[in-house]
Amino acid sequence: MSLAATVSTEAGSAAGFTLEPSTHSPRLLELRFDARLVEAFLQAVAHWPVQALEYKSMLRFRVARILDELCNNELQPLLVDTLVDRNTGALIITPEGLDQVEQAEEMVKFTTAVAHLFGRSNFDAMSGQYYARFVVKNEDNSDSYLRQAHRVMELHNDGTYVEQDTDYVLMLKIDEQNMEGGNSLLLHLDDWEDLDRFSGDELGSREMRWAAPPSKNTAKDVFHPVFDLDRSGRPIMSYIDQFVQPKDDIEGNWLTDLSESLEGSRSILSVPVPTGSFLLINNHFWLHGRDKFTANPGLRRELMRQRGYFTRAKTLRNPNQ
Ligand SMILES: [Fe+2]
Repeated sequence: MSLAATVSTEAGSAAGFTLEPSTHSPRLLELRFDARLVEAFLQAVAHWPVQALEYKSMLRFRVARILDELCNNELQPLLVDTLVDRNTGALIITPEGLDQVEQAEEMVKFTTAVAHLFGRSNFDAMSGQYYARFVVKNEDNSDSYLRQAHRVMELHNDGTYVEQDTDYVLMLKIDEQNMEGGNSLLLHLDDWEDLDRFSGDELGSREMRWAAPPSKNTAKDVFHPVFDLDRSGRPIMSYIDQFVQPKDDIEGNWLTDLSESLEGSRSILSVPVPTGSFLLINNHFWLHGRDKFTANPGLRRELMRQRGYFTRAKTLRNPNQ
């Protein structure tokens, strides 16, 4: 396995960050920004509130450039290369000193800068912005498992029921109180024992219907198969158990078999994400989910997500499809 990490670590440390394989898997790289660099970035963008980034899309790219320049222009190529590298394609990122819920706006600025070095974050219909902040509490009566505690959110890809390309997913932990459990779950497709069995099945390339519940604010169904191929002919996936609408018993039972196989994989990574840190994954060959957590009346977790498309390099065979 060729890892960008091994070549970039030394150069990066001089540029204000370090990169190395995480303890969870050599596929998941750990990127840490020095507190001094984080502070310099926040000062450089202090005159733009997050609202300015919401109103003026172009400024998201300017804060990205500012961050890259502070990193001796070494950050952008590192992010672009890592995210499309089939062997890795995932990062856990920690900007040191940015770990208090009171700094939530600064966290949004920092993640925006990182995301816009290699992509552009899509409009998020749930929030009406290019990002979405949401709270998980002990009690919840929403219509999907996104905000519900006490149960596993099964492994899935994002963007299955929208027509926009969803090449990447960025998930930030803004706050966490009285949380026991609830790790992020990740599975790389090439580590899944049954990838060939399901991707090679005729049903794997059959168009299926995908529809979301009302809270997602997307009225239109979309149609696509569970599996496609990347530019190198390897399987990629666009799947979520809650929103696929099988048309008959054949599809329904095949999908249930697939779901059980994913959930039973021995290669699932269970990753704790500290407050202020964020996961950044290639959404085509990584599945993500969330482990269950223990009931607690004082439980509170706040998250932010950005999903979008790559602007610099492509994973998909035909990115316009
Ligand atoms: Fe998700």
